[in-house]
Amino acid sequence: MTQNSKSQNANQMWGGRFEEKPSDIMEQINASIGVDKRMWRQDIRGSIAHATMLSKQGIISKDEAVEIVNGLNAIAEEIKSGQFEFKTSLEDIHMNIEARLREMIGDTAGKLHTARSRNDQVATDFRMWVRDAIDEVAHQIEDLQDVLSDLCEKHKDDVMPGFTHLQAAQPITLALHLEAYSRMLHRDRSRFLDARKRVNTCPLGSAALAGTPYPIDREFTAEKLGFDRPTENTMDGVSARDFANEFLFCAAQCGLHLSRLAEEIIIWATPQFNFIQLSDAWSTGSSIMPQKKNPDAAELVRGKTGRLNGNLIQMMTVLKGLPLAYNKDLQEDKESVFDSFDTISLCIQAMKGMLESAKFNTEAMLNSAEMGYTTATALADWLVMNLGLPFRDAHHVTGAIVKMAENKGCKLDELPLADMQAIYADISEDIYSVLSVKKK
Ligand code: ARG
Repeated sequence: MTQNSKSQNANQMWGGRFEEKPSDIMEQINASIGVDKRMWRQDIRGSIAHATMLSKQGIISKDEAVEIVNGLNAIAEEIKSGQFEFKTSLEDIHMNIEARLREMIGDTAGKLHTARSRNDQVATDFRMWVRDAIDEVAHQIEDLQDVLSDLCEKHKDDVMPGFTHLQAAQPITLALHLEAYSRMLHRDRSRFLDARKRVNTCPLGSAALAGTPYPIDREFTAEKLGFDRPTENTMDGVSARDFANEFLFCAAQCGLHLSRLAEEIIIWATPQFNFIQLSDAWSTGSSIMPQKKNPDAAELVRGKTGRLNGNLIQMMTVLKGLPLAYNKDLQEDKESVFDSFDTISLCIQAMKGMLESAKFNTEAMLNSAEMGYTTATALADWLVMNLGLPFRDAHHVTGAIVKMAENKGCKLDELPLADMQAIYADISEDIYSVLSVKKK
């Protein structure tokens, strides 16, 4: 074998130093194309900005830049129309695109990688991807909040039992209950948008780790790609992934909130509670038990918290103890982020669909609030405010009244005044103003 044919076997990006092809398993463990091809738009956009900057700075000629940019746009069309052939042997999205560019425009393609490394390239692409993901999730959360706020408006006077320990505690409105979730979602959205600030800095120009001797213009590429500014430290620029962790945490936290709401829906949809009826479009039946209508979407929103939490732990574990700067471990950074994005976005949309098509059984809620002695605390407060009892004593008196109602099998507001007076003589007719769950 001549030296030339030997190196033809080797990788075309670094074949100069290599004589042998990688083993099949090496190729398999090394490849990320199956995952990172999702970043093709960001990769092409990043390369176009880089080529434009190179020509503006006189590092490549204008004609070369035009050739490169046209080629990249043509590749984008190929990928969009499904004609592009992704090759595992070309490892990742960056080399797949560059290799195709070489096929299209020849040697000029080799100039695109001037003053750049895949290390700053991938960090830039990934940050753009996460930024877009944040914007999309933030929108979806807003849509869900709109549904919740419509429901709050509709049910602002509908009484239900509020729970502690899942035991009826005090009467509340359905609006108060649902609005609590709206508050959580508001924080989730603001957490995503806050994380976005730290995502949105541009590593391009950091090159492999130490910057580059070419007279590049980092402000120009950062601005062209919609970043707030370039990253400050080249080693940090290529190896920081805390932005990915933050995204994963935001998704996990939002998923956790949704799982709490999902759990409520599951409980409320049981025939025993019967507080909510999910539409057919958002439930499933049982193949054996004809009476069943299962809240599968809610259960899946609850269940998917597992992968959202798992993804965060996966990424944190990859990063722990990594020395500066780039290490190939970092290639393990995208799958979790992509999965968490897909998962949280699906969960938010499912929750929206379930809620906007559900029927709340306000009568059953009211009934349940009336059955659970949920006005007992109001009764105790009445004794404090009207008769001057210390709260502990009022609590005691109220306990005796509740027990009496329980024995008689009636609601608190059905108990005759004389019975209450037998427990505490000074109680007057006015007590009934707080005994019904509905304000009189
Ligand atoms: N596929 C790689 C990744 O996602 C690109 C960067 C490769 N850099 C390197 N020095 N081998 O991390």
